[in-house]
Amino acid sequence: MLISSAGALSGFADAFAKKNRVDRVVSFPYKDVFNRNRNIMTTSRLFPLAALLLAQTALFAAPADLPRERISLDDGWRFIKADSPDAGKNLNYTAIKAWILPAGNPFTTNVPAVRPEGEPAGNISFAQPDFDDGQWRLLNLPHDFGIEGPFDQALSGSTGKLPWFGIAWYRKHLDIPASDAGKEIYLDVDGAMAYATVWLNGKFVGGWPYGYASWRVDLTPFLKCGGENVIAIRLDNPPDSSRWYPGGGIYRNVWLVKNSPVHVAHWGTYVTTPEVSASAATVKIQVNVDNDADADATVSLKNEIFPLGQDGSKGRSIASITVGGVKIGAHQSESGDGQIKFNKPKLWSIEKPQRYVVVTSVEQDGKLVDSYETPFGIRTIEFTATNGFLLNGRRVPINGVCDHSDLGALGSAINVRALERQVEILKAMGCNAIRTSHNPPSPELLDICDRLGMLVMDESFDCWESQKTRNDYHLLFDDWHECDWRAELRRDRNHPSIILWSIGNEVSEQNNRSKFWIPAELTRIAHQEDPTRPTTSANNQVNAGFNGFITNEDVFGYNYKPTEYGRVHEANPAKPIFGSETASCVSSRGEYFFPANINTPAGVTYFNNKKNGQADNQVSSYDLYAPPWATPPDTEFKGQEQYPFVAGEFVWTGFDYLGEPTPYGGRNDPARSSYFGIIDLAGFPKDRYYLYQAHWRPDFPMAHILPHWNWPERVGQVTPVMVYTSGDSAELFLNGKSLGLKKKGQFEYRLRWDDVVYQPGTLKVVAYKNGKKWAADEVQTTGPASRLTLQADRNKIADDGQDLSFITVTVADKSGLLVPRSNNHIKFSIEGPGEIVATDNGDATSFESFQAPERNAFNGLALVIVRAKAGQKGTIILSAESDGLKGSSVRIKSN
Ligand code: GAL
Repeated sequence: MLISSAGALSGFADAFAKKNRVDRVVSFPYKDVFNRNRNIMTTSRLFPLAALLLAQTALFAAPADLPRERISLDDGWRFIKADSPDAGKNLNYTAIKAWILPAGNPFTTNVPAVRPEGEPAGNISFAQPDFDDGQWRLLNLPHDFGIEGPFDQALSGSTGKLPWFGIAWYRKHLDIPASDAGKEIYLDVDGAMAYATVWLNGKFVGGWPYGYASWRVDLTPFLKCGGENVIAIRLDNPPDSSRWYPGGGIYRNVWLVKNSPVHVAHWGTYVTTPEVSASAATVKIQVNVDNDADADATVSLKNEIFPLGQDGSKGRSIASITVGGVKIGAHQSESGDGQIKFNKPKLWSIEKPQRYVVVTSVEQDGKLVDSYETPFGIRTIEFTATNGFLLNGRRVPINGVCDHSDLGALGSAINVRALERQVEILKAMGCNAIRTSHNPPSPELLDICDRLGMLVMDESFDCWESQKTRNDYHLLFDDWHECDWRAELRRDRNHPSIILWSIGNEVSEQNNRSKFWIPAELTRIAHQEDPTRPTTSANNQVNAGFNGFITNEDVFGYNYKPTEYGRVHEANPAKPIFGSETASCVSSRGEYFFPANINTPAGVTYFNNKKNGQADNQVSSYDLYAPPWATPPDTEFKGQEQYPFVAGEFVWTGFDYLGEPTPYGGRNDPARSSYFGIIDLAGFPKDRYYLYQAHWRPDFPMAHILPHWNWPERVGQVTPVMVYTSGDSAELFLNGKSLGLKKKGQFEYRLRWDDVVYQPGTLKVVAYKNGKKWAADEVQTTGPASRLTLQADRNKIADDGQDLSFITVTVADKSGLLVPRSNNHIKFSIEGPGEIVATDNGDATSFESFQAPERNAFNGLALVIVRAKAGQKGTIILSAESDGLKGSSVRIKSN
């Protein structure tokens, strides 16, 4: 199935085909994929056929003040974790639902919801402009109140034993100048957890219930231009609404968008590349323009393409197309499209993620009234039933991971650098894809994936109509799934990194034929909003491949079924297939238990005692242990190799996450974060990282030995050694003596020396590939802990109040070697224009506060996250000290 955008150039278009570098085409008819049913719009019309095709000259002078402003509204909010005393039950979702539903009107084909008269609950005091919020806490967004703790053992480990639920209010005072009169002014919220409702100057504006959605409310009708305005946002995050830690609060960015009455609509551009080859690309640009004025408007629309540098800077203009004489009725919207063909496009790929940008300029009566940028990429994607996934015509195995959206010690509060660091760590492992399990990601993650070359499976829901937890999305599904889904598709469809739209994860409807209309509808909606990408879902029921469910999506995803790929392919020979969720191996970084029980046959090992890798609320790191539904990584590798038509896999998970501490998920188990991660919660690779790297980067010379070699109590005892290498064989040496050369057999992905008898000293491995020396690794028995070493991932950070440096703290012996099993208590202090935002150590059983400037090391490592204070340049010095150890410090420049 070819999923590059459909539709060749029409005859009309061909008439414009020229030999020179650039062709510009206005194509008709236009497809109505935008903004049906804006609540104020009854019809949608085409651009006039007489639209002019104008030459590629700069028609619009660069304006001194841009007509569109998108202002960060993150700073200076007042916060309280309580409800307005007069709210009673009047603000419960069911009581005010009728006032919120209209926010979804642009995203549904149903009859638009009409806002009831009056205010939903009278004059709620926390919403009133003159309410004195001076005693409320002053903070900046993004903000996750849950991560602030405290941990509470009485709370469920499955959601992190943290207080992320409950009602909270945020208030923001903002001045709107008189000169904004006549503008359309919107509040854009990238994500607020959950059931958000918004008031402006005491008047109810609207809201949005799904905590992972991005949404907009129109402030214009309630705004006071020339004075102070007060926005009040109430969140109501119900307990028992998530299977993992969701965070609480306005945890993503918030924007104030100011537009002229005539402007590009919300997420109002759609850029596709219907024809792509190495020699030329056709770029199709669809634009939806709103006219919110009381008078009809006639506009010109110019779309101009520029290449984008890695840093986001624009290169020289490549081409532009202008359409004039577009008439838009008062309070109506118009959509149209144009095409530009240009030679020698630089394709977006994992290795070279070239981006472009379309700058859309709207001119009304000779005046620029809007300018809007849409970054995009030029590439083809194709899922095949017989040859996996093709990017730009070349087979690329999907070496993916699933990740939840929390950022470990930072909680759910979005931070660009923290996300970027995660993507960098994953890329170095050879990972090329992220599944945003099980919800829409932050927009920033998608930007990073576009920029760094990471594929994305963009997911929507963890449940449909049937619940997984008492208060989860099933309560919203009927009223909101269409709005949430269309909004996600429209927000995200210009990102070149996205290759799959996932309509859901492990929904119980997989087994219920009477509910198969749901996947059919979600797929139909996705095809309407974006016919260029396939839909999929993540299915844990073998049945889903055989009972007809599979026919309702374009590409079929199996969770944890590496042995079923053959059967499902046979039954559905035309269907592309991949591993939507795989492995779920569990381990704790640096923990090893004996006997290692490594001779369990490949497949599932359940752990319920030390022998099976489970002790002290940790899981042994021999990477053989998994819950009953899951497998070690090797089993999935084998499945992928045996069935080469499978497009690849998404491992559960790339990073450990807050909550779901399987196998210690019982209410009384003292654990608060997962063991599934290939990388721990602090971002430190576990051994498994190197098993994946060995397999996913076969051309990268590497070898990795486990376990560590500090076992004074095991002298003379069998202590199995494993080696992960991208080579095909390796020889192991203990204190210079060869323990033999081992070769990987078919479907073997690790080399094992099961009978090594422990003696302190040096364990060394030399790996070979095709008979040649390929890589080496060494572990030594260390001396006692003697000092701390500090290493910043970046020694220069921006003073924008957001940028972060991640500092790895190592407990080392005299010669600088990490001392395994050390858990010294470390205290941190900071000088200069920086602050310690959070600390961590990757230990799922630690209940130390993430904000505390002190922490135990976990198996030799700890992490400190430092931020430069906004607008303050200088040298930040982070110091670490611990009783009995030589302290250390690191310098970070803020500029
Ligand atoms: C899957 C589920 C994930 C996670 C995982 C743990 O069944 O889709 O969300 O719970 O199990 O193995």
